[in-house]
This record gives sequence, structure tokens and C-alpha cells, in this order.
Amino acid sequence: MSQSNGGVFITTYGCQMNVNDSERMFSLLEMVDYHPVDTPEEANLIIINSCSVREKPVHKVHSEVGRYRSLKAQNPKLRIGVGGCVAQQEKTKLLKDIPLLDFVFGTDAIDELPKLVLEAQGTKESLSNTRFQHNQPYQIETMIRNPGVSTFVNITKGCDNFCTFCVVPFTRGRECSRKLSELIQDIHNLVKRGVKEVTLLGQNVNSYKSECGADFGQLLKTVATETDIQRIRYTTSHPKDFNQDLVEISQQYRDKICDYIHLPVQCGNSEVLERMNRGYTREDYLYKVEMIKKAIPGVALSTDIIVGFPGETEEQFLDTLSLIKEVGYDGIYAFKYSPRPFTKAARWTDHLSEDEKSERLERVFALQRPIALGLSQECIGQTYEILVEEVLEDGLAVGRNSQNRKTLFRDPNAKAGELAFVKINKARPSLLQGERVASELSFTSNASPCFEAIAP
Ligand code: SAH
Ligand code: SF4
Ligand code: F3S
Repeated sequence: MSQSNGGVFITTYGCQMNVNDSERMFSLLEMVDYHPVDTPEEANLIIINSCSVREKPVHKVHSEVGRYRSLKAQNPKLRIGVGGCVAQQEKTKLLKDIPLLDFVFGTDAIDELPKLVLEAQGTKESLSNTRFQHNQPYQIETMIRNPGVSTFVNITKGCDNFCTFCVVPFTRGRECSRKLSELIQDIHNLVKRGVKEVTLLGQNVNSYKSECGADFGQLLKTVATETDIQRIRYTTSHPKDFNQDLVEISQQYRDKICDYIHLPVQCGNSEVLERMNRGYTREDYLYKVEMIKKAIPGVALSTDIIVGFPGETEEQFLDTLSLIKEVGYDGIYAFKYSPRPFTKAARWTDHLSEDEKSERLERVFALQRPIALGLSQECIGQTYEILVEEVLEDGLAVGRNSQNRKTLFRDPNAKAGELAFVKINKARPSLLQGERVASELSFTSNASPCFEAIAP
């Protein structure tokens, strides 16, 4: 029997890609006899899976590693590594700046992690692997220890869009799609493990292109028709690539493809959108929203907004507010613009002050709050089909409707993975509550969408 290498503790920042990457790290490290632990004190290996999309990411890594100083002094076996987007961005500079660090590894080096860790164990030298694997096909099987009812499945990696504010093309490299046949096999395997819902994941899922020529629409159709998955979601859709074909497929396979689309607009003014290099105007975006709403009544939409992009005038910002009102989003993730290394916008000189950005952010939240609450309250009296994700000890079942709204109902006999009809009798902006009803007779499929999320 092999000897255990001890505990591994991973902290994860950033988007769902990083969450999936951390799961992959745990699974790969288990193969070389590390076991997951809940606190850094129990670990022989600490990994920070970092994100650099906004504010002070390098500073965050510095301060987190600093907190492990005394552990390192007590445990000579302890090794500390940084992965993810900050590691990819800073490369060996991180090792120079943070002497406590033992290794850094980039976003394309996760499968090399066991080798790197074993090497790090046997040396006091600092190590790094931050090469992109642009020439290799993107072949990964989803590695999730406990997939549960709902799981994220990567379909593409990287991004070629180079929005002028965004660091992701630099930290995740060139866009690359998984083979359709491998993806379908992956989903078959997840279904066998009890997964009922997948969220297909990519920086721009609409530009998926399999080796065999299949595009995202064909991928959706194939997942809907050739697998036994019950629900399909996807994120993130880029407005420039969202087309009529996709809307028709979503309509045609509505029994499986959920009535919820995250469609990041970033800003409501066409001049700013052009400076952002988003590839669409305000009018193009609103046209697509109308197309979606017409084809899928009751669809829930959410978006990302950046306030205070360089040069954004008060008038241009007002266009963002008016677009928010016009669309009526169920949820908005709004952020203050923050300059990122390597990006075009960071080199411009017309930056806004922090105070101006904070003030605009507050105005976005103030506008969105009542919109979200209103949409939420419209759910009262409606009946939704809820995919149960978890039943708590006190008999409270937790799940989501097709529009992605979290819903609670009391039923100690409910089971994770089943679909239950629930009539809503209480609504908070980000949570519905209701009673289970026996049949779908009372089910209103065109009920109003309800979902709110405001991330500061
Ligand atoms: N690929 C996705 C976005 C990934 S990043 C898309 O194109 O929609 C997630 C969100 O972070 C972006 O939509 C944007 O709103 C925000 N973001 C990215 N870079 C930012 C920056 N420099 N400052 C503030 N917010 C940023
Ligand atoms: Fe960043 Fe734009 Fe790519 Fe999204 S599409 S990851 S915002 S560069
Ligand atoms: Fe994700 Fe952050 Fe990287 S949002 S892609 S982990 S920069």
C-alpha cells in the first residue's frame, strides 16, 4: 500500500472555470495519495487557485501566502503553490516576490500538477510550469468528486475576443473546443453518476466549434437528443454570437434547455461598446433580447455590467441605466472597471476616479433592486417545476426552476434529483418559497421569470 503524502487544502477564487479546475486538482492529487482537508493547519500541501479579473489579485495572493508563514515554520513538509489566472499572468515573478512560495503553475498545467507537486516535495528550489498548450487538442474528462444533481461541464477553454478591459485572453490563452463525441461521452458518464442537469461552460460558449464542424447549436441539439440529461444550461453567451438558430433550438428543445440566459451587455452605450471591442451596438443587443423574449416567453435574463469604463461620460452611463430598465433583468452582476495588465484600456489615460465609479455602481444597484423584487413578486401564485438539489435535515427541499431561481419547499419525502411542482407563496429578490402540489395541472409554463443576483 502506498504511503499517504498528507492533506491538501485548496482555496479557490474567481469564476466557475476555477471551481472546476480546483475539483480537477483534488482528483488528480488523490491519485498521488493526497487527501483533501478542511483547514490549512492539517495540510502538507496548500494551493491557491487565483483569479485576476478584477481588483488587486496579486496583493490577495501575497496576503494569503503571508497567513501561512507560521505553518511553514512548523511543518518542514509543507509546500505552497499558486495556480490559476494570477499564476499565469505573473509567472515566475510571483516566486521572486513571495519567497514563501514553492511553485506556480499556469491554467494549462493542471494535468501536470501531480508531477510538479512530487518534484516540489523533494526540493527546496522553487518550481514553475506556466506554458500554454496551444498545440494540443483540448481533451479533458470532467473530474468532479461529488457531482451531485447539477454539474458544470467545460466545452471550451480560452478566449479570442480581446475585449479591451479583459485579462482573460492573456490568462487562459487561445480559444479551443472539446470534441463533440468526447463531450457526449462525458455527459453520459455524468448521467450514470446521478447528474440531472449540466451547465455547459466556456468564456464564449456560442463560438464553440468541434473538430467535426459542429457549432454550439448542434452541440445543444445533440446533448438534448442523445443523452438522458434532464436539464441543460450554458454560460457565458456572447451577445455578438447569439443568433436566431440558437433561439430556435432553445425553443424546440425547451423541455430540456432551460429558460434562462446570461447575456453580458457590459454597457448600454454604443460608443463605449465599440471602445470595449464588444462587437455589437446597443441596438443589436436589444434586437437579440427581443428575439429571445418573443421565442421563449417567460425567459429569465441576467447580465454583467461594467461601470466607469475609461472615458465613460455621465450621458453614456445613463444609457446603461436606460438599457437595464428596458430589458428588465432578473439578475445583474455589476462591477467597477478595474485596469488589468496587458489590456488596451489599461493604457488609456481617461480613467475615472474611484468615487465616480462607486457612485455609478450604487446607482445600478439602486435601479435594479426594485426591478428584481417586482419580477420576483410576480412569481407568487405561479407553479414551477423544481429540480430538487438537496433536502435539508429539517425536511426543507432546495432546488431551482427552469429560470434558475432558487426555490424552497417543505417536504421531508422529497429526494435530490427529482422534479417537483411547487406553487409559490412567498418571494424575496433571490429566493422563492412555496408548497408542493400534486400534479402539473396547475403548472403554468409561461409564468414570469424570476431571478436576481447582484454581485458587488
Ligand atoms: N466571457 C465572459 C466574461 C468573463 S469575465 C463574457 O464575455 O461575458 C466576467 C465579467 O467580469 C465580465 O463580463 C465583466 O463584466 C467583468 N470584468 C472583466 N474584466 C473586468 C475589468 N477589467 N473590470 C471590471 N470588470 C471586469
Ligand atoms: Fe473577456 Fe471578452 Fe473574452 Fe469575455 S469575451 S472572456 S469579457 S475577452
Ligand atoms: Fe475566471 Fe478569474 Fe480567470 S474570472 S478565467 S479565474 S481571471
